[in-house]
Amino acid sequence: MTCTTHIPAPNPDAKVASDQLCELIRGEIEAGDGWISFARYMELALYAPGLGYYAGGSEKFGAVGDFVTAPELSPLFARALARQVAQIMKLSTSAILEFGAGSGRLAADLLSALAVRGEMPQRYDILELSAELRQRQTKTLAQQNCALNWLDHLPESFSGVVIANEVLDAMPVHLVAWRAKGIVERGVALDEKGYFTFSERPASGRLLAEAESIAKACALSPDYESEVALAAPAWLAAWGERFKLGALILIDYGFPRCEFYHPQRRRGSLMCHYHHWAHDDPFFLPGLQDITSHVDFTALMQAADAAGLELYGYTSQGCFLANCGLLDELNGLTPGSDEYQRAATAAHRLLSPQGMGESFKILVLGRGLEQALLGFCAGDRSYRL
Ligand SMILES: C[S@@+](CC[C@H](N)C(=O)[O-])C[C@H]1O[C@@H](n2cnc3c(N)ncnc32)[C@H](O)[C@@H]1O
Repeated sequence: MTCTTHIPAPNPDAKVASDQLCELIRGEIEAGDGWISFARYMELALYAPGLGYYAGGSEKFGAVGDFVTAPELSPLFARALARQVAQIMKLSTSAILEFGAGSGRLAADLLSALAVRGEMPQRYDILELSAELRQRQTKTLAQQNCALNWLDHLPESFSGVVIANEVLDAMPVHLVAWRAKGIVERGVALDEKGYFTFSERPASGRLLAEAESIAKACALSPDYESEVALAAPAWLAAWGERFKLGALILIDYGFPRCEFYHPQRRRGSLMCHYHHWAHDDPFFLPGLQDITSHVDFTALMQAADAAGLELYGYTSQGCFLANCGLLDELNGLTPGSDEYQRAATAAHRLLSPQGMGESFKILVLGRGLEQALLGFCAGDRSYRL
């Protein structure tokens, strides 16, 4: 565990909310035979109504929050993405559905960029788990000249473009250890003082089957520990027959399976973010910090395949945004202006391998498109999945 004692203390109201969340989680552990899965812990820590990290009122995004996402960094991201979105809408339907829209920044900038191009969608739907963020999105998008709708669940049928930026990494994951005695699930229990602690049980059911298949595909070293995501592939599988025509654009940090379960990552990829401090203790101030895991893109591709969806491309964010003309968008600004300087700095961070250009990937899946996509005109890495 990383030492977290140097991280700034929360304000008293935030601490009270975190304590209430801890009580709620303790109650579940006690009711659940002294143990809950880490996935359930993560679900409560992030989404428990009113108390979870995404459900509570903390700032979260940007310099004053806990982390910065690509759309919060610069409108250039949305402008480049708009070119890909416009192409897919032309090939399918003029409709967008964004998952986990955060502050609403991406929706606002995407709609502005599409308006400039004369390619406004006929509708823009948002599906957001957090009621608090939904309110924030309503405010951010108040001036938009587009039919906006907030959905409560997956539509029965959809054609157009689905976008999810940094959403799959925020879906709960199970923790697994491949021990000499067998595969175990690392769940959450209480120690003698009532604090959260890890506790292992034999893995079973779907989790065991998935962990066995990972062990078979990747050469795991003894006592290898990592995350296994069941929720994100299940989310994709749920699209199955509902997705009629168009594409899902999934943007997140992660790897193909055997890079994810690489010997160098033998303690997994779980990360927590609190006031821009990144560390690996998920029990630190529950409800006040983000908890996230990298994405196993091979698992997503397999789930999509089983659901009958086609793979349209997989590459790094840097390659995708460059293919979509991010530098043309930058060059459209006045050189030397403040806007240009800010955009140039952001472009470097979005594209460069040392910034977000390599760690973030783009996976595009869908159904019925009959043209190669702009974002993969060079550097497609689908063969790596
Ligand atoms: C890390 S934030 C990213 C926000 C935004 N997309 C951005 O890039 O700034 C994760 C977002 O996903 C939402 N979320 C997580 N799981 C979700 C799900 N199953 N359905 C819809 N939204 C979800 C969270 O509430 C939050 O808005």
